Amino acid sequence: MAAEASAGQPLVAVVLAAGKGTRLRSERPKVLHEVAGRPMLARVLAAARAAGCERLLVVVGHGSEPVRAAFDEPGIEWVEQRRQRGTGHALAQVGPHLGGAARLLVLSGDVPLVRPTTLRSLVAAADGAWAALAVARLERPGSLGRVVVADGRLERIVEAAGASPAELASDRINAGLYLLPAPGIFAYLERLEPDPVSGELYLTDALNAAAGEHPIVACELADPDEALGVNDQRDLARAHRALLDRRAEELQQAGVTLLEPARTSVEPEVEVGADTVLHAGVWLGGSTRVGRGCRLHQGVWIRDSRLGDGVEVAPYSVLDGAEVGDGCRVGPFARLRPGARLDEGARVGNFVEVKNARLGPGVKAGHLAYLGDADVGAGANIGAGTVTCNYDGETKHRTVIGERAFIGSDTMLVAPVEVGDEAVTGAGSVIASDVPPRALAVERSKQRTVPGWKARRKRRED
Ligand code: UD1
Ligand code: CA
Repeated sequence: MAAEASAGQPLVAVVLAAGKGTRLRSERPKVLHEVAGRPMLARVLAAARAAGCERLLVVVGHGSEPVRAAFDEPGIEWVEQRRQRGTGHALAQVGPHLGGAARLLVLSGDVPLVRPTTLRSLVAAADGAWAALAVARLERPGSLGRVVVADGRLERIVEAAGASPAELASDRINAGLYLLPAPGIFAYLERLEPDPVSGELYLTDALNAAAGEHPIVACELADPDEALGVNDQRDLARAHRALLDRRAEELQQAGVTLLEPARTSVEPEVEVGADTVLHAGVWLGGSTRVGRGCRLHQGVWIRDSRLGDGVEVAPYSVLDGAEVGDGCRVGPFARLRPGARLDEGARVGNFVEVKNARLGPGVKAGHLAYLGDADVGAGANIGAGTVTCNYDGETKHRTVIGERAFIGSDTMLVAPVEVGDEAVTGAGSVIASDVPPRALAVERSKQRTVPGWKARRKRRED
């Protein structure tokens, strides 16, 4: 009799990720498709790590270089399955890499919503039994394998393609997550026969054979979304939305107001403070952190940015790699690009673009400006149409604006240039040399006014 999984043996994660994923109709390897901003495989690997696995083995197919390149990190052991002959064949490939008895936590690279806590309870459930598998009740079980369970024990798994109408009607499905004993499982994998419909060697058939001889515990998932498997584009969209909904619910629990959660997208890694209000059409992604008591209006898009407390972002503003201090007001239609830093109480209005520039406390740039590679002192006022001409065609140069300086409308600041504290530039000036503190710099030709010009022109035309 094959040895059962015992709690003393090392816990090794095996992620099956070699499948072709042909039903996605995509050039990209299936497990590199993103759900909520990260490749499916990244999410599965993160869950396995957090569940305490000592080793991470990933089974990949021939031509998997893009997958390996996307996960160029230590700790992942790549196992090649040259031809994709089914899930049973895929798992069999890890045998030679194990070097001893182990508990195999088998995951599918295309089941990305699984939580570490679920994996830990699957591991715990197998303790004392031979193995365990996760089952879920899904409203739309689709192409997933149906599971027959008696007294909490697995009787058999039937793949949808080979299931009878009665079996197909069952909503209890195989999540594709297992805790299996090694070397015990390999004896069953060696004896697998190809499935008559697909010709593949099914891991599920090995489990069916083992279930006749050993207790295999069926663990029902409290949250069936964790079993969402991605086989086609519709599944991909469903898994993506489910992850965003999960984050939305967590934020609601933490006191964030989402006015229309179904129309708001917050990626799982994003943090939002209590009493912040998110309007419809807000998208928050990457490593974004939003403070407390903020208000983000319709259509605001924010990635990899930090917002302090009490920040208001008016509709249709885009923030990417920006830092925004407490009490700032941004937008509508503002664009903060990487390296934009707004200190407390600064204001950036419509059609203002800020890149790699620091705006000191209380700076106002109300309308139509470009501030790039600049340092703007506290309380300065940037008039409409101001442009930091930071690029000379070869290199970027900095513009420094002093505290409480007043930059007149339509000033061109030809960098490198410095405008001192409390200095003023006249509207329409091209400022190419430094302006000392408290000075006025005007650079424009004298206005010519011709009295009665209109009447004279009219006479000429007659
Ligand atoms: C599989 C299960 C099904 C379960 C579902 C859960 C089998 C036979 N069926 O079906 O019971 O409900 O997962 O999502 O196991 N893979 C390889 N090499 C291969 C074939 C597949 O590494 O040769 C990988 C795939 O990349 C994928 C995983 O194994 O990550 C599952 O394979 P897939 O073909 O998607 O199986 P399903 O039909 O979804
Ligand atoms: Ca699948």
